[in-house]
Amino acid sequence: MTPAANAPDRAWTASSAYAKALSDPGHALVLRSSTGRTLLLDAARFTAPPDPVDLAVLDRCQGPTLDLGCGPGRLVAELARRGVPALGVDVAPAAVLLGRAAGATVLRRSVFGRIPGAGRWPHALLMDGNIGIGGDPAALLGRVRGLIRPGGGELVVETEAEDVYENHVVSFETGGEPFGWTRIGTEALVVVAAGVGLRATGDWSAGGRRFAAFTWGEGGSLG
Ligand SMILES: C[S@@+](CC[C@H](N)C(=O)[O-])C[C@H]1O[C@@H](n2cnc3c(N)ncnc32)[C@H](O)[C@@H]1O
Repeated sequence: MTPAANAPDRAWTASSAYAKALSDPGHALVLRSSTGRTLLLDAARFTAPPDPVDLAVLDRCQGPTLDLGCGPGRLVAELARRGVPALGVDVAPAAVLLGRAAGATVLRRSVFGRIPGAGRWPHALLMDGNIGIGGDPAALLGRVRGLIRPGGGELVVETEAEDVYENHVVSFETGGEPFGWTRIGTEALVVVAAGVGLRATGDWSAGGRRFAAFTWGEGGSLG
């Protein structure tokens, strides 16, 4: 396990704010950074059915797919509906229960824990800002590199729409343990990924959101 394996997952597992946001999409999910900034997570999207932008990302997943930090499993459930084998991984019990109820196969586990099929997944997803998990994108990308199949496995990451790279220590606004969370745009992410042996194979924008795809390899620039 990497050092980020010790990231305080408890912040998510014990968060009544997150559980409430999942059960009441009108409830804003607010993170307070130690810098004084407020970061808003789009909880309404986590509980909504996949939108056309999500569906286009899922079109890339033509084989077994790992959704890391899957939340209530909307993407895993959609892949299952399409007949694509998919596994969601999430630490939050409320999310795992909702995902299973929606027909998704979901493991309650950290992305840094033991993941079935490690090193053999053709597709992996870090959507909805999940590249922020742990507040150390190099550690997270290095971990995911070890999960996808060398020579062809693809990781799709949803990045910030802006060109930013901010590492925060945050807490849910209602309290709880602090945890690391990163906001990173595609430009910075491509450089971080190159440092752990992941090469960008494409990037695109859709519906005001931005994405980049990576596979094993050298190279730190887009296109
Ligand atoms: C921003 S939410 C994204 C939700 C999700 N992608 C969706 O569409 O519903 C982040 C998710 O990552 C999960 N998470 C946080 N740290 C994690 C970790 N170390 N391993 C697995 N999941 C984690 C949280 O429980 C939460 O469900």
